[in-house]
Amino acid sequence: MIDFTNLPARNKAYGGANGSKLSIVYNNEFYMLKLPNHSLKNPNLSYTNSCISEYLGCHIFNMLGVKAQETLLGTYTYHGKTRNVVACKDFTSLDTVFSDFASVKNKYIDSMSNGYGTELEDILDTIANQEVVDPKELEQHFWNIFVVDAFIGNWDRHNGNWGFLYNLRTDQMTIAPVFDCGSSLFPQIDDDLIQKVMASKAEMKARVYDIPTSAIVINKKRLNYFKFITSLEYADCNEAIKRIVPRIDLGQVNELIDQTEQASDLLKTFLKKILRMRKEMILDVALAKLI
Ligand SMILES: Nc1ncnc2c1ncn2[C@@H]1O[C@H](COP(=O)(O)OP(=O)(O)O)[C@@H](O)[C@H]1O
Ligand SMILES: [Mg+2]
Repeated sequence: MIDFTNLPARNKAYGGANGSKLSIVYNNEFYMLKLPNHSLKNPNLSYTNSCISEYLGCHIFNMLGVKAQETLLGTYTYHGKTRNVVACKDFTSLDTVFSDFASVKNKYIDSMSNGYGTELEDILDTIANQEVVDPKELEQHFWNIFVVDAFIGNWDRHNGNWGFLYNLRTDQMTIAPVFDCGSSLFPQIDDDLIQKVMASKAEMKARVYDIPTSAIVINKKRLNYFKFITSLEYADCNEAIKRIVPRIDLGQVNELIDQTEQASDLLKTFLKKILRMRKEMILDVALAKLI
């Protein structure tokens, strides 16, 4: 396991509301170190498993052919305590800065809501009408992310959690690697709760059919991944189902989870089970209806 504690630090600072972040140099490359955040929802868990979620989520995106940031798990010691952290390789460079989807949405003056508004119709309208990247490519990217987020149960893919790389020299925009998967894969669950949830079919099913919901809303209501995806109402979402779902190899996903030393055995068992259920009960159902 990598100890990130005494590595050279940089002055670069990162935003985001889910925990402290440091800029460090590891193997001559720049990384954003994400420290785990305090668990507000679960009083039995002082720190969430968001670092494990970040690591696994980004690896699953990459596994399914949707480019995500490179992540490494390790530890960091502060205030006398050693905690699990995730290092995210910085995807910016001397020439390129990150620009979130919200900022691009702000450029598009006809947009119905501000950049951070997540009404689906506004997002799709912005994707179709923006001129910074190819609209077709962006639309496919958006739905690819949506489908993978449905698989890993992401609560938080708002317009600040995906976006573009802007090259200051050439004025070119490209799609940025996926990042911030910290609110997926049930980061607030602890071993006691896992035991209770796994002992109850209803509790497991609720974590497929009811929660998490998506950060994207229709008429101000957060989308239910199951209802939305199996309704087959959005043709471009259906295309993403056909692209992504056949690439999911649960054996490979299970192997990734099993190799994650930072996760407790119980967490590993729970994540493997819930991912299988979310695939079979949401994604496979939609795919079967489509073909
Ligand atoms: N790999 C990365 N390289 C460069 N900048 C990043 C990277 N990942 C995230 N960022 C920037 O840091 C911000 C915070 O990161 P994020 O993972 O979204 O944290 P949080 O979980 O607190 O929202 C992002 O909004 C983005 O601007
Ligand atoms: Mg974020």
